[in-house]
Amino acid sequence: MTTPSALVPKRVLSGMRPTGQLHLGHYHGVVKNWVKLQHEYDCYFFVADWHALTTDYESPHRLSEYSWEMVIDWLAAGVNPGSAKVFIQSRVPEHAELHLLLSMMTPLGWLERVPTYKDQQEKLREKDLATYGFLGYPLLQSADILIYKSTMVPVGEDQVSHIELTREVARRFNYLYGREPNFEDNALAAVKKMGKKNSKLYQELRKKFQEQGDQEALATARELVKSQQNLTLGDRERLFGYLDGTGKVILPEPQALLTVASKMPGLDGQKMSKSYGNTITLREDRASIEQKVRTMPTDPARVRRTDPGDPDKCPVWQLHQVYSNPETKQWVQKGCREAGIGCLDCKQPVIDAIDAELAPMRERALEYQQNPTLVRKILTEGCEQARTVAKETLDEVRQAMGLNYR
Ligand code: TRP
Ligand code: SF4
Repeated sequence: MTTPSALVPKRVLSGMRPTGQLHLGHYHGVVKNWVKLQHEYDCYFFVADWHALTTDYESPHRLSEYSWEMVIDWLAAGVNPGSAKVFIQSRVPEHAELHLLLSMMTPLGWLERVPTYKDQQEKLREKDLATYGFLGYPLLQSADILIYKSTMVPVGEDQVSHIELTREVARRFNYLYGREPNFEDNALAAVKKMGKKNSKLYQELRKKFQEQGDQEALATARELVKSQQNLTLGDRERLFGYLDGTGKVILPEPQALLTVASKMPGLDGQKMSKSYGNTITLREDRASIEQKVRTMPTDPARVRRTDPGDPDKCPVWQLHQVYSNPETKQWVQKGCREAGIGCLDCKQPVIDAIDAELAPMRERALEYQQNPTLVRKILTEGCEQARTVAKETLDEVRQAMGLNYR
């Protein structure tokens, strides 16, 4: 009962736990990709503050500050609230209701088998994560995804198992409740909404397909449905399902859009991460970038300026691979191996490139910092837009589960 992916509008959703100010690792690993996607698809980006609570329930007090700073950095990095919906999970309580309803039909074993469950418990030993909320973490994520009928979810490798779970949950839901009780009536009502001329055309094409197996008629009818601007997502799906006789898929299965692991190295050559203390934040000023890069360790064999070095043993070289053009890279390779350049010379183009990348972000971040009213307004609007869609899905879910009685 999967919806052919070409039939549903491509909707992208991704969430990030509130971590406070972002660093270059977040930018190159995640946000830069969001900024690109927002021009191509209908995008939803949100602060997963409830997800943060599953591990930080003992000290939630800084969450609001972390959310705030993170949203400022998203905006500064180019996430555009004019094209993407930017919102906060806890302000769209529909996620919680869907999570609850999905929990009714999700076998415990599915959650216990998600690899991150045991991994994270091991890794965060100092926290007691033998909780109901933590076990449900990936199911809450499923609700986040399914409530917008998202078709694409940009995530890193570590999250793929959560998307897999989401697909299984959607499949199970559709299997249990997919036969909308009044499907025929609802489909006919949707047909009417296309207007007289189009309704008639739709019905003729449907007949051609269903009675004569005319594939071309099916394709034409699908195009017709796709071209209708004023239909809700639910009605659109009904019209597709009525055409080919599959009924209606209430919760479409999403795909993981794997973001290639960020190559962004930290100042010490390890992956850039707040917990390693090796980061450059997006709001770092030039003096601080200079200071951090200048004190970076280099190939330990280059003790003196006259000692030749090996870029492969140097974290600065990894930064050149992110930031430098072929000529500069060649200059580094030659200069390092022949001791023709000093390490400070070598670091200068990296400093300049990072500063050039961050300068416009710093400026925008400052503007948002000085205008909290604007940030609040962006979030309020984003939350409202998200809620409109979330409510629509939840209505269908309630109806499918027989919870629409009054
Ligand atoms: N679990 C994700 C992470 O840790 C964050 C997240 C929550 C998310 N809900 C989501 C990501 C929905 C994608 C889609 O990174
Ligand atoms: Fe590293 Fe550049 Fe110094 Fe070579 S010259 S050790 S690549 S900083």
